Amino acid sequence: MLQVNYSGNLSDVLTESKWQELESIHYNLYEKQGKGNDFLGWLDWPSRSTDDWINHIQQTAEQIRQQADVLIVIGIGGSYLGAKAVIEALSPYFNKEQEFEVIFAGQHVSGAYLKQLMTYVEDRDVALNVISKSGTTTEPALAFRFLQQYMEERYGDEASERIYVTTDANKGALLDLATQKGYQRFVVPDDVGGRYSVMTAVGLLPIAAAGFDIRLLLEGGQAAEVELSEFSQENPALQYAALRHHLYEQGYTNEVLATFEPVLAYVQEWWKQLFGESEGKEHKGIFPVSVTYTTDLHSLGQYIQDGKRHLFETFMIVDEVDDDLQVFEKENDADQLNYLAGTSLHEFNLVAYQGTSQAHLSGGVPQVTIRIPELDEYHLGYLLYFYMLSCAFSAYQLEINPFDQPGVEAYKTNIFKLLKKPGFES
Ligand code: PA5
Repeated sequence: MLQVNYSGNLSDVLTESKWQELESIHYNLYEKQGKGNDFLGWLDWPSRSTDDWINHIQQTAEQIRQQADVLIVIGIGGSYLGAKAVIEALSPYFNKEQEFEVIFAGQHVSGAYLKQLMTYVEDRDVALNVISKSGTTTEPALAFRFLQQYMEERYGDEASERIYVTTDANKGALLDLATQKGYQRFVVPDDVGGRYSVMTAVGLLPIAAAGFDIRLLLEGGQAAEVELSEFSQENPALQYAALRHHLYEQGYTNEVLATFEPVLAYVQEWWKQLFGESEGKEHKGIFPVSVTYTTDLHSLGQYIQDGKRHLFETFMIVDEVDDDLQVFEKENDADQLNYLAGTSLHEFNLVAYQGTSQAHLSGGVPQVTIRIPELDEYHLGYLLYFYMLSCAFSAYQLEINPFDQPGVEAYKTNIFKLLKKPGFES
């Protein structure tokens, strides 16, 4: 289904002592005894998703598509990256015929972005999905302040039928606001953290509204849930986690996630958040970086080939693509590309992967390759679950709680103090 390969010898990594360590992590994870064990709701979420719940999300998505031409999804971090990753990975690069658009906001603070967004949507009908587990995050709250006012000015009382809120079931400013205004609500489960929430309503409502099959996504997630729960040396999630830790211990403290598919750029962003926020604690953790080839072979490729030797490279390779072009023969061969005649651009990329891999390996960059059969909802569901599970194993090998993020509070407190937020004046 999904394969992990290593440039070195896997059996040198999966030693008896490493295997014992992983066995105890496996036990603690599935028996819910490890650090952060109250945030393990994602582990069996795909198989716990009921038909009624999936139907409810699909029906709401359909209602949104009927009442609007644009859905603005407000959220940051784990409350936006999962949906953005799946939608980007499955959408065409260009779509003149697009009848329905999903646009993200609140993932940064930019007056220009919000102003231009409100102008951009003025001749199309709009719905909003505000997503925040805590219900108090400043960036989405700020974006919502502007967009809620925009909706009320534009739609009057009807605005409340166009605003959908995804937040905690019991607490937070957003919950209070949604209750007051009577907005339709979806719940972020208590035991699922933001970056592990793509298969909950956080990810699924925007993905379904964008027109993609959330049932298939969950089926892929469920297949991964079952297959990857086995404690076996063939388990790719265990292999990937063990390889990361092994390389980290050898001094390779940076991981470069490389792909030849530009549609995967936001899967890479999601991956960076997942691993960076889960592992980067207590002055430990692999720093996650991403590149898109062959574009970045003409920029960061130089560093990867020749720079400081503290990085390893993980290729994310898609075996089959739907849409492709084949190089054709030209009479005069003025561009000297006739040698490629008959080769498709995807085949070119697969060869570019081999060439790059050999070059970087000879430059001293160890390599892992994750092979995905194809890009559709099912395989993406599988892939995202694979990364979440590997991440938990990876963090536990560092004796880190994968599910909290204490480090993100420092910057927030400083901003609140500087802006004299009530309670932070001193
Ligand atoms: O993974 C996480 O927990 C974070 O990245 C959060 O998703 C992010 O900070 C947004 O939080 P909230 O959904 O509470 O607004």
